[in-house]
Amino acid sequence: MAGTSLVFAVNRQRFHLPTVDPSTTLVEFLRSHTRFKSVKLSCGEGGCGACVVLLSKYDPVLDRVEDFAVSSCLTLLCSVNLCSITTSEGFGNSKDGFHAIHQRFSGFHASQCGFCTPGMCVSLFSALVNAEKKADRVEAPPGFSKLTVSEAEKAVAGNLCRCTGYRSIADACKSFSADVDMEDLGFNSFWRKGDSKQAKIDSLPPYNPESEVCTFPEFLKNEIRSLPSFLDSKRYGWYSPATIEELKSLVEANDSGDSMKLVVGNTGTGYYKELTGYDKYIDLRYVPELSIIRMDPTGLDVGAIVTITKVIEALKKKTKGELISRGELVFERIARHMDKIASGFLRNTASIGGNLVMAQRKNFPSDIATILLAVDSTVNIMSGSRSEIIMLEDFLKRAPLDPKSVLLSVKIPNWEAVTKASAGSNTTLLFETYRAAPRPLGNALPYLNAAFLAEVSSCKTSTGFMVHHCCLAFGAYGTKHAIRARKVEDFLNGKTLSAGVLYEAIKLVRATVVPEEGTTSPAYRSSLACGFLFEFFSPFINSDTEIADGFLENILFPTSKMNKNQCCNDEIPYVSSSAKQVLNLSADYDPVGKPIIKSGAAIQASGEAVYVDDIPSPTNCLHGAFIYSTKPFVRVKGIKFKTKPQPDGVSAVLSFKDIPNGGENVGSKTIFGTEPLFADDLTQCAGQRLAFLVADTQKNADLAANFVDVDYEMETIEQPILSVEEAVKRSSFYEVPPFLSPKQVGDISKGMALADHKITSAEIKLGSQYYFYMETQTTLAVPDEDNCIVVYTSSQCPQFLHSVIAKCLGIPESNVRVITRRVGGGFGGKAVKSIPVATACALAAHKLHRPVRIYVNRKTDMIMAGGRHPMKIIYSVGFKSDGKITALQLDILIDAGMAPDISPIMPHNVLGALKKYDWGALSFDVKVCKTNNPSRSAMRGPGEVQGSFIAEAVIEHVASTLSMEVDCVRNINLHTHCSLDLFYENHAGEPLEYTLPSIWDKLAMSSSFNQRTEMVKEFNKCNKWRKRGISRVPIVYEVSLRPTPGKVSILSDGSVVVEVGGIELGQGLWTKVKQMAAFALGSIQCDDSGDLLDKVRVVQSDTVSLIQGGFTAGSTTSESSCQAVRLSCDILVERLAPLKQILQEQMGSIKWETLIEKAYLQALNLSASSFYVPDFTSVQYLNYGAAVSEVEVDLLTGETRILQSDIIYDCGQSLNPAVDLGQIEGAFVQGIGFFMLEEYMENSEGLVISNGTWTYKIPSIDTIPKQFNVEILNSGQHSNRVLSSKASGEPPLLLAVSVHCAARAAIKESRKQLLQWGGLNGSASMFQMAVPATMPVVKELCGLESVECYLEWIAGRK
Ligand SMILES: Cc1cc2nc3c(=O)[nH]c(=O)nc-3n(C[C@H](O)[C@H](O)[C@H](O)COP(=O)(O)OP(=O)(O)OC[C@H]3O[C@@H](n4cnc5c(N)ncnc54)[C@H](O)[C@@H]3O)c2cc1C
Ligand code: FES
Ligand code: FES
Repeated sequence: MAGTSLVFAVNRQRFHLPTVDPSTTLVEFLRSHTRFKSVKLSCGEGGCGACVVLLSKYDPVLDRVEDFAVSSCLTLLCSVNLCSITTSEGFGNSKDGFHAIHQRFSGFHASQCGFCTPGMCVSLFSALVNAEKKADRVEAPPGFSKLTVSEAEKAVAGNLCRCTGYRSIADACKSFSADVDMEDLGFNSFWRKGDSKQAKIDSLPPYNPESEVCTFPEFLKNEIRSLPSFLDSKRYGWYSPATIEELKSLVEANDSGDSMKLVVGNTGTGYYKELTGYDKYIDLRYVPELSIIRMDPTGLDVGAIVTITKVIEALKKKTKGELISRGELVFERIARHMDKIASGFLRNTASIGGNLVMAQRKNFPSDIATILLAVDSTVNIMSGSRSEIIMLEDFLKRAPLDPKSVLLSVKIPNWEAVTKASAGSNTTLLFETYRAAPRPLGNALPYLNAAFLAEVSSCKTSTGFMVHHCCLAFGAYGTKHAIRARKVEDFLNGKTLSAGVLYEAIKLVRATVVPEEGTTSPAYRSSLACGFLFEFFSPFINSDTEIADGFLENILFPTSKMNKNQCCNDEIPYVSSSAKQVLNLSADYDPVGKPIIKSGAAIQASGEAVYVDDIPSPTNCLHGAFIYSTKPFVRVKGIKFKTKPQPDGVSAVLSFKDIPNGGENVGSKTIFGTEPLFADDLTQCAGQRLAFLVADTQKNADLAANFVDVDYEMETIEQPILSVEEAVKRSSFYEVPPFLSPKQVGDISKGMALADHKITSAEIKLGSQYYFYMETQTTLAVPDEDNCIVVYTSSQCPQFLHSVIAKCLGIPESNVRVITRRVGGGFGGKAVKSIPVATACALAAHKLHRPVRIYVNRKTDMIMAGGRHPMKIIYSVGFKSDGKITALQLDILIDAGMAPDISPIMPHNVLGALKKYDWGALSFDVKVCKTNNPSRSAMRGPGEVQGSFIAEAVIEHVASTLSMEVDCVRNINLHTHCSLDLFYENHAGEPLEYTLPSIWDKLAMSSSFNQRTEMVKEFNKCNKWRKRGISRVPIVYEVSLRPTPGKVSILSDGSVVVEVGGIELGQGLWTKVKQMAAFALGSIQCDDSGDLLDKVRVVQSDTVSLIQGGFTAGSTTSESSCQAVRLSCDILVERLAPLKQILQEQMGSIKWETLIEKAYLQALNLSASSFYVPDFTSVQYLNYGAAVSEVEVDLLTGETRILQSDIIYDCGQSLNPAVDLGQIEGAFVQGIGFFMLEEYMENSEGLVISNGTWTYKIPSIDTIPKQFNVEILNSGQHSNRVLSSKASGEPPLLLAVSVHCAARAAIKESRKQLLQWGGLNGSASMFQMAVPATMPVVKELCGLESVECYLEWIAGRK
């Protein structure tokens, strides 16, 4: 087919590619071949939004541009022919001026590490551009968009952020909406408290849709008008048939053995990863029949290539305003369900046909298949010269569609017409769809989905409702494809609904919806099916309390479901509704203490900030990929490629045999020991590095790594140790040095003797958590002259990495230089775990004498990361009848994995946070177990999170045993200053510094805890299927300061360069350091000292420029870096002071620049460095905070929604309250992930199987508290602290246990009810609730058969 060359625009710049590999994705091209690096790669599977770009298409006939967001990691480059791409730097940047989006993201403090920010900005930009096109909306007032608040929040619903906790992002987005209440917008740098509404509006960076950048350049429009729209297939292997006939002959002609793929949006590759390309790609998008959208009285016909977004639009089209007909209502419901499929930027390219073909051919757990099945949809298929229309149900049941068949279109019937033709007009049509997924707004596959349609009529003679006809479809529950539950339908048809009938129907559902072997949570999924059917029909069961006269006339949809039964049940919005921040600002050390914008926030938003993988590749650069073991503790006989010749582009495969003479096989090192870079003959765990493959591109390296065959000797040497129990049996432990061994408190026997009650040997198990930094591990290693090497890496501990590289290569440390500018999220995962990644690159670069880089793909990163420490805890506790605990005895087994990493600190950390209560006497035995699992490493709040949880689990257990309010048990066991001092061995500080009691009381007031507790009780009384819980928890968190270097240099123009040991991870370290430098240099008191802030630049960490940088970890690096800088500035001020004095006397007043100019002339040394070593009185200190969370649990699905969280956290005197607020919110939300969502699962051999965004669900914007209130307490002067400040990075994560406890409280209520219904054998209040408390966990505790129990119970009452 003669076509054109591939031409497109990126940020209005023309690109012309005479040839390209058709499997190239847009992100690959943008990142490797353009300067537009704002487009980030994070998951590569459509699940995170980091790679989102705006794609614009021009229709020359209508002269119209269509703009929509897409994920560039799944979009194939050939499919953007004659399109225009706009990235974040394309609509604003530091040179041409930032866009209001960038400025508002900065000003609302909505960017921390910044890695997610450009993608967020593009998603919002796309929403703004499209809102302006809505002609039916009234014009927005100046400065605002037509976008509504809800649309603004939903615009970023598919974008993940691991740092901020989303609240600030939601505010930045909402600030554009015409319907926003300015009072609802949170803390920002634009206005002050008390400003008028107009002053607030005026202070926002202006947004003017009229002057928006052009998304489609004129030159491309002209080319489109003159060129054919399809590519030259010979050159590109990309075919664009323009008619059905062409498509037919292309498909039929393909008998040459060429591999061929029909392609539309290509989003299917997000799920079904493709390891090889195809000879032919047949782009279906130019065949007109495949893109029809036709609505007629019989229904909606849509071509197979129509995107889900367009199907939704078409379905909604006729239902604007008043609801009119049954058919339209069915359409509206389908559209509403489709709105939850994937995310907006995927739905924009994902086709309805692609979805159904994936479901049919590969058993994809589709939503579309299920919901269309329930409405008797049909599909039109073309196989060879034959085309046939068949029922969707038959299509799904058929053998997988052969590659030459094409799905042409789908027809969704209009039920107005169908029902008229069947039962007649006196029936009522009911239709509802359901999905239970970890994220309510989508971007998560459901555990099960369902759609039910029924025609019912009121039997005036009897007392019930008759089912005339029903269609019940279920899918995605671990079935090959969606099914119609025919037996249940047959059973219900013709029946009058009653509790007994519904009970029988539900029993049939349970027998029908049975997940296949190997499906996770099978019983849960079956119970969902029962719950949904109950939810659908229960308003109609024959019960006097359920249905009043005339009810039927008003009900078409039972979604107002169970409202009859639920007073005070307001509809909860999916995304956050409002938030309040209380910050006490202090001007004592100005500009320290000011909530200034994070340094570099705007360039992070525009995407100009340079991360390691954004550094352009040097000439000759190679790319690496790890080959890891999939088995623990086996011998490796060999590593070879599955294919011959070896895959394209491979240069070398390095293993432990390639360590140079004089070097060591070392991959990381801590004070507790080392971990090898590669396994030698014997692997230590699944996921261990075996080799490092090097190829010409990252794509080739990653693909080739998949074609490696590792030959394992399966003869077992010895059974691997895969559990802590096995480690105990075989006495496999790491030693804990005495200085880290926590001390027992009091006499446990005496404590136990004082007790009125005892709980003995209760057990808790805690799993792991993955860091999920948005930027995975990455390094660039460049060999230099004279056996030297320069390494650019994303690391929290360059100093350690530096020395490991030297050791591994067998070269002096002076030959190594490690540079880290910024890190796209760390959370502990880029400390020890970053070292082997950089070392492997350095080894390859050293050996091959070529630059080598790696950007570890998400799957490998997740498999190798190790994550948080899993542990098993057995406790015995003694307590008085009033709830006062007298003794706690613990046996803790910590799974540390194959190498010590930092694990020996864990006992200290676990106990540190656990001691937040006065246990009377505390005794413990903690074992750090050496197992054949990946070595675990520090993750935000390492050990402390678990310790804090254990404490709460004990408190809950005591309260349940005594049938007391948990809050009372917490209250009575809070420390006095005296007991605090005893438990924390004199680190408690002065009594006044112990702010927890006042925080505890203040929070009760500010969160209206007592009133809300009563309201929760009231709610629970009048609601059967939703229960609420509220919980208040305290935290005490011990931190330690470490020695840290700092260096300050004043340049000849007066600008200042600062270097610190600490690394900027997104936590705002640079910003605080900048403020400190300005404050400390300001003490020289020049006339313009107030302007110093703008003159200070904090620069990248360079391990040869500033040594002894240490670890950036433990929440204290910002303050110690600040202190080191302060000391350096003091030296400079001392040097400058005499000169200043002289000049002042001569000139009367003096400006900073003049002073520095003169100092240069006088050859003053204007560079000073210092090494801050905290003295013993200031090394350790305690942090305090408390949180109240209220949740609502859906008893039918196990979903927990967080209605409100209130936090008060003591930052001492915050160095920057905006930064600390971001840390508190972000940490709390990461904690929600740990406690409620994130399952980091391994198989029976210890290999991580939660290895992507499909299976690992971090919180998203729709899972955070709907109301999220944070107060930063300014607790005044703390003499031993750095300018009175305290840490904020990790401790607030622990507060998220309040959500877990609140969910537990709600579940207790549900179990009480279940007990009453006769559905519970055990106790209502005595149960262990797993972490994370995912939907299946919660539902199981609420009763997997609760609806049956209820129905039996009400049937029995009659
Ligand atoms: C992150 C993510 C989340 C998702 N979440 C959900 C979800 O919650 N629920 C849900 O239902 N779906 C979900 N999906 C699936 C999504 O809906 C499908 O990937 C999409 O609809 C496929 O359309 P496409 O145009 O991209 O197909 P492509 O990827 O282009 O094609 C998919 C497959 O179908 C074949 N094909 C495409 N069209 C035809 C045709 N007309 N005839 C014959 N063969 C054809 C292709 O050859 C290919 O094998 C998700 C996808 C992603 C990436
Ligand atoms: S990188 Fe494309 S969605 Fe995650
Ligand atoms: S700021 Fe969002 S991931 Fe770091």
